[in-house]
Amino acid sequence: MTVEMFTPRWYYKGKVPFENQQEIERTFEEFMDLEKNFINPDNINGELLTSYGLPTNQSAPWERWLEFIKPCLSEMVDQLKPKRDIEVVPQEAWVNRYQKGHYQEYHCHSVQHCNLAAVYFYRLEGGCTNFKFYNNQHAAYKACGLDDMFEIPTAATITPKVQQGDIIIFPAHYPHLVSPNKSEFERITFSANFDVVPASNVSTTKHGKDLDLI
Ligand SMILES: [Fe+2]
Repeated sequence: MTVEMFTPRWYYKGKVPFENQQEIERTFEEFMDLEKNFINPDNINGELLTSYGLPTNQSAPWERWLEFIKPCLSEMVDQLKPKRDIEVVPQEAWVNRYQKGHYQEYHCHSVQHCNLAAVYFYRLEGGCTNFKFYNNQHAAYKACGLDDMFEIPTAATITPKVQQGDIIIFPAHYPHLVSPNKSEFERITFSANFDVVPASNVSTTKHGKDLDLI
């Protein structure tokens, strides 16, 4: 007999084709160079520079970015085996810049008309260990003592192994965080929200703010 697992959680991890990564860099060069496109907002828990919520975020070439990541979106959809015709409706996307000491606290993307969230790793030094999913179920194993007694398959945080040019896509309700950047190297990620809906509903459920359908 063995210890069996059940109801495992999942996320998609893909690598944007190298030539597309280069195109993304070229396409966003101008946007990245403008200081006014980024703020360190007071209304979120964390220290970072972000384009989220700024009017100028809408001028970023997000449509192009969606084209460049499309191979990964298609692969994700294939692997999740749709039960019916669906559409992946982009809702919004933004840039996050983490300079030394910058971080983002525990949060999720659970908002109306968003059931998938994505993070594209635009610029990293080596592998990234800063992005972590948080596993709320771990507290129950700690509270009852099982975590102290056994090497059981549970942990408070799970760190996806990612490199520059990778993208992860996960259910929007998954809590996650970004631990402090301890290096001098600025790490930059793009975040995006998507709503997967039945294809027949698209004409009436289009709520994208910054983006159009892909
Ligand atoms: Fe997030």
